[in-house]
Amino acid sequence: MCSMKGYVKIFTYGCQMNDLDSQKIYSELIERGWQPTDDTRLADLIILNTCTVRQKAHEKALSNIGRLRKNKLDKPNLKIVITGCVAQELGQHLFERMPHVDIILGTHQLHRLPDLVKNNSCTYPRVETAFIDYIHSMDIVTRREFLEHSHRAYINIMQGCNNYCAYCIVPYVRGPEISRPAERILCEVEHHARHDVKEIFLLGQNVNSFSGGMSFAELLHRIHSIEGIERIRFTTSHPKDMSTDLIECYATLPKLCSHLHLPFQAGSDKVLARMNRGYTRESYLELIDRLRKARPDMAFSTDAIVGFPDETPEEFQETLDLIRSVRFDVIYSFKYSPRPGTKASDFTDDVLLTEKKSRLRELQTLQNSITLENHRARLGTTYAVLVDGKSRRSAQQIYGRTTHNTIVNFTGDSSWVGQTVRVRITRANQNSLTGKIAQ
Ligand code: SAH
Ligand code: SF4
Ligand code: F3S
Repeated sequence: MCSMKGYVKIFTYGCQMNDLDSQKIYSELIERGWQPTDDTRLADLIILNTCTVRQKAHEKALSNIGRLRKNKLDKPNLKIVITGCVAQELGQHLFERMPHVDIILGTHQLHRLPDLVKNNSCTYPRVETAFIDYIHSMDIVTRREFLEHSHRAYINIMQGCNNYCAYCIVPYVRGPEISRPAERILCEVEHHARHDVKEIFLLGQNVNSFSGGMSFAELLHRIHSIEGIERIRFTTSHPKDMSTDLIECYATLPKLCSHLHLPFQAGSDKVLARMNRGYTRESYLELIDRLRKARPDMAFSTDAIVGFPDETPEEFQETLDLIRSVRFDVIYSFKYSPRPGTKASDFTDDVLLTEKKSRLRELQTLQNSITLENHRARLGTTYAVLVDGKSRRSAQQIYGRTTHNTIVNFTGDSSWVGQTVRVRITRANQNSLTGKIAQ
């Protein structure tokens, strides 16, 4: 056992990649004798894992970093580390505005954190934001106590992005696509399978452009053959990388869940071209058709942006039209937000904020009604539900997820957590389903 190094608190913002990175940092630090705490005043080390995908996220990060100034005044020995996408974006400049920060660690440098905070072994302030050929933190295996649900493991298979969508800062802050070697991924899956993990959730900014020694489709086949694994999910996929082999997986691999997150962003070809998305409205819809042919009960979620520069009301209507055609279960929708250094930041952000807001509202109203209709269509059907935990609403209720990734609440025993049970759907709600255990 290592001796106790001090208390650590990590704040995480942004996407699932950041969540996983934070779990990895916790795992590494605990391995070396640090103790996690939720009490910021007790912490000897505070880490902020930040996001900069939209202006709002960026501002939130800066205001949270600013607030830590007081913690530093109260406790001069406190070490403050900023990592994630704002750290990568601003690097050295962050110190100029936030001199109370000790370490700025870019998205490729995360694995160095334990050494940098060891016995004050480096001189502060310190900035490490170089991009390197391999992101070593991908190989850190999360300790089981940090899996939010011990039956579901999130696994990095690649990081970065080469797509340069005109609006997006991610390629600049996460760097080019780097895949993790397939054999290491498979080793990690086997490790989790031996520890009762039932669901494998593969993560990457563009999982389906994976190139770690085999195709993404082949990787899915290999994971599928690992005993003990019951469900496989992944995110995020880019429409242009949905190969025929990958679509075939939905016909041949029953452990692959009937749900795909496939961002479409906009429904108009002109907007898609200005966004540099590399597909058309028609080819996106054709893709959805092919996936539904391979797996008829397929459910889709997606991302959409409203108010991209020059988006006309008619072009926005094409987005609504596409939503009506696909009938997604869930849409994560955003008002366009200019990001420094991106191609679109040179375009005039000419759709008024009030107009963006009203388009967003219209989109969300439409989607809410489709979501509820999709949920209603599932009434009376019996689904396999992987039980995640006790429901917050009532002591007798537990909840889990269907293959479509929909949450189902039902009466049951908390000892079923991690097991798959059959549940008949009895009520459709806006954000979830209610069911009864099937006899
Ligand atoms: N492929 C990535 C996407 C990350 S960004 C992934 O790993 O999930 C998530 C979503 O944020 C994008 O799909 C897009 O809809 C939205 N987004 C990105 N940049 C944006 C911007 N500048 N303004 C508004 N929304 C943006
Ligand atoms: Fe951003 Fe586009 Fe890359 Fe996704 S595919 S991370 S939206 S540049
Ligand atoms: Fe945000 Fe970086 Fe993820 S910008 S969405 S934390 S990749």
